[in-house]
Amino acid sequence: MMILAFPDYLSQAQRLAVRLDAPLIEVVLHHFPDGESLIRLPPSLPEHLIICRSLNQPNGKLIELLLCATTARELGGRRLTLVAPYLGYMRQDIANRPGEAVSQRIIGKLLADLFDDVLTVDPHLHRISSLNQAVPIANAISLSAADEIGRFLKGKFKHAILLGPDSESKQWVGAIARNIGFDYAIADKNRLGDKQVEMALPDKDYRNNPVVIVDDMASTGRTLAKAAGLLQAAGSRDIYAIVTHALFCGDAYGHILDAGVKTIWSTDSIDHPSSCIKLDALLADAIKAIA
Ligand code: R5P
Repeated sequence: MMILAFPDYLSQAQRLAVRLDAPLIEVVLHHFPDGESLIRLPPSLPEHLIICRSLNQPNGKLIELLLCATTARELGGRRLTLVAPYLGYMRQDIANRPGEAVSQRIIGKLLADLFDDVLTVDPHLHRISSLNQAVPIANAISLSAADEIGRFLKGKFKHAILLGPDSESKQWVGAIARNIGFDYAIADKNRLGDKQVEMALPDKDYRNNPVVIVDDMASTGRTLAKAAGLLQAAGSRDIYAIVTHALFCGDAYGHILDAGVKTIWSTDSIDHPSSCIKLDALLADAIKAIA
C-alpha cells in the first residue's frame, strides 16, 4: 500500500500515513500558464494506492484526479482508493429547473469509474440514504465525524446547547448531543439564494449556557451567521460554531465572527486555521477495515 497525496492535503495525508505505517509520496503537480495541469507520479507503483485529496473548489481538482488515477493505473496500480474527506458536488441531487445537470449523479459516476473505493466524511446527502446511491460502487464509504466532534465539545464545555441550523442536521446534531449528554435544538431554515437564508429558532432559553452551532459545512457562512444573529437577539452571549468542512468561501469566516460567533472550529477535512479536529484515526480505521 502507498499513499499518494496531493499538495493541498499533504499534512493530513502525512498523519494518515503514520497511522497506517505506509509510505507516502507527494503527487507532483504543475500548473501551466494556460491553466492546464501536469501530474507526475513515481514510475513504478505498488498494487494498492490510497489517493488523498479533499474536493472543495472541485473543478480543477477533478481533472487532476482523473489524470492521477488514470496514470496510477497505467503505472501498475490495481486497486485505487480515494480518500476525499470533503466530497464536492453532492448537494445538487435533483434538477431544480428543467435542463439542469444533476451533478451528484454525474460526478459520483466519474469517481466510481476511476476508483475501487471512495471514502468520505459527512457527505451532504439530502435525498438519498447511502453514498453508493451517488457513487455507484460497493465500497463507497461515508464516515461521520460526529464522535470526533462530540469528544472535542465534551473537552471544551461542561454543558452547552448544540444548535442544528436546519431540519437536515437533526439526526446528526441530536446524536452528538445525546452521546455527550448536552441539550440540543434544531432551527428552521429556508435558503432563498446563495447568500440569503431565513431562519427561525425554536423557543428555548439560550441565555444561561454556551450555544454551539453545529453544521456539516460552512460555505458562504450565511447559515452560521444567521443563526448567531438570532441567538444574540434571544439573549445568548456565548456563541460558538463547529463544522466538519471548512469551505469558508470569500468573506465567510469574517462574516461569521462579525455575527457574534466567538470561535469557529472545524475538522481538518480541509486545511484551515480553524481545523483543530483531526480525522486521521477515523480514516485510518476505515482503510484498515477494507484493505
Ligand atoms: C445545507 O443544508 C448545509 O447543511 C449547510 O448548512 C450549508 O451548506 C451552509 O452553507 P452556507 O455557509 O453557504 O450558508
